[in-house]
Amino acid sequence: MNEITKEIERLKKEKNAVILAHYYVNDEVQDIADYVGDSYALAKEAKKSDAKVIVFCGVSFMGESAKILNPDKTVLMPDMSADCPMAHMADVETIEEMREKYDDLAVVCYINSTAELKCRSDVCVTSSNAVRIVKALPQKNIFFIPDENLGRYVAKQVPEKNIIPNKGFCHVHVSVTADNLKKIKEKYPKALVLAHPECKDDVLSMADYIGSTSGIIDYATNSDNGEFIVCTESGVSCELRRKNPDKKFYFATTRHFCPNMKLNTVEKVLHVLKTGENEVHVSEETREKALIPLDRMIEIAK
Ligand code: 13P
Ligand code: SF4
Repeated sequence: MNEITKEIERLKKEKNAVILAHYYVNDEVQDIADYVGDSYALAKEAKKSDAKVIVFCGVSFMGESAKILNPDKTVLMPDMSADCPMAHMADVETIEEMREKYDDLAVVCYINSTAELKCRSDVCVTSSNAVRIVKALPQKNIFFIPDENLGRYVAKQVPEKNIIPNKGFCHVHVSVTADNLKKIKEKYPKALVLAHPECKDDVLSMADYIGSTSGIIDYATNSDNGEFIVCTESGVSCELRRKNPDKKFYFATTRHFCPNMKLNTVEKVLHVLKTGENEVHVSEETREKALIPLDRMIEIAK
């Protein structure tokens, strides 16, 4: 254990802190985390943890959701500028217009969204539970915000609903093109294609498996196949390789990394643990409203 890691361990005990990390952060940060997971698992873990302080290594909507679910805990982010651009790609005016247009409407909000958008939504979803939750809703019309690609994917799985996807996107996942994928498939014909539902429709139509980051890791781990082409952020390779040292993983594009997730570093984790800086604050009014769709997600997804 190096000096930084020792100091982080000491501070964690002293402050009763836990480190949560998303699969997209740097390998060194995943290595020092107490828990690494996808967005849904992290939200649940934040809720069940007994720690007084949560250091959330991810992007701002994740820290914000952790605070909304745990108002009595201190939530710290290693880098406050780590934000998800897609979280801002919907607007309150359009939500209101949709509510006026349709009587029987549910606003379904991908967890990758600001607290302000969550406040206006009926239920949150993550990529691992979106299909199940949309299926379970009583409403026929679904305004799905902010991600168009996840919305379209859910629409295909739940044809009985009228799903209207908002036009947001994740620049990391849409950087995989069907052409890239075709070329890499020709190079590795035995490899199975594993894709995150934030990828574009033509990419998803070439996938052998579509699912969240945890879903992708579990699928590769349980598969008898030895080679995979992975269409999601390259940070998942840390857990994929840890669990499957003898399998081969190829990425559909070399640009497949999220610059915001990579702002989290071990040095910044140490700094916030030491100083208590970068605390996430959410006003009580916002928290109360945004908690409703988050709690509803956890309840329906149980
Ligand atoms: P999951 O964690 O649900 O796989 O989503 C990926 C993502 O883009 C998080 O920002
Ligand atoms: Fe946002 Fe995409 Fe980065 Fe996930 S990978 S945090 S959706 S920009």
